[in-house]
Amino acid sequence: MREPTSGSGDPLHGSDNAYLFADEETLLFDTFSPASANKIHSYLDEILDDRELDYIAISHPEPNHAGNVHRLLDAYPDATLVVPARGNEHHLYGIDDVPHVRYVNPRDSLTLGTFDLEFVPPYFPDHGMHIWMYERTMSALFCVDWMGYRHGTDCLRFAEDFSETKLKEGMEAFVSFALPWVQHVSMDRVSAAIEHLLDGYSPEIIAPAHGQIIRERPREYIRLMEEVMARISEREIDPAEWPTSDADGLTEDPE
Ligand SMILES: [Fe+2]
Ligand SMILES: [Fe+2]
Repeated sequence: MREPTSGSGDPLHGSDNAYLFADEETLLFDTFSPASANKIHSYLDEILDDRELDYIAISHPEPNHAGNVHRLLDAYPDATLVVPARGNEHHLYGIDDVPHVRYVNPRDSLTLGTFDLEFVPPYFPDHGMHIWMYERTMSALFCVDWMGYRHGTDCLRFAEDFSETKLKEGMEAFVSFALPWVQHVSMDRVSAAIEHLLDGYSPEIIAPAHGQIIRERPREYIRLMEEVMARISEREIDPAEWPTSDADGLTEDPE
């Protein structure tokens, strides 16, 4: 097993994030991987403190995003599973058998009380069945696999705690293997998609699935990502750069 390292040889860690809204109603966005099943149950027990989970929303059905859906539905049988309508393979994931399910399209809304959610087209998806999310009162964009970046051993930080050099290095390490299509992409289309996204939404917070939360100057970070995607699109990724394990958070949870 080879742990991914930075150019300077330091270890590069990855994040798997799930986001919980505890409002008049409660919603969990993504569920971690099966390796973290115990963790997600204990976090929810602690935070919800006997409250029910009303919605379990998944961005896309990859294991590290949707790996605990059925376990959570066993624990919270009245919860509604919120899934992207996009795609035609829902039956492969057992979604058709779920008692309460809501299929969502971009622009659909879901109000939890104060928090006011809107589902967003997945501008940079890595799966046919995919959706992003935006919370209007915080102007927070949940952009799933996009805006991900690896970090050093200082895991519980925010983006502003890292230098631009470290962020770019972490973005390049993450995007190179998690979104490998970027090496073949037309940057004109990437830039047009970013402009379209920023015309439609003005994020003040960026909450990615695989990077720490961005709370300041989100547009600068988006431009950094655009720069990194341009760099990757200009070169061919050597498969030797890919981590040989934990490629998307699937190693056994040490705890
Ligand atoms: Fe993914
Ligand atoms: Fe992911």
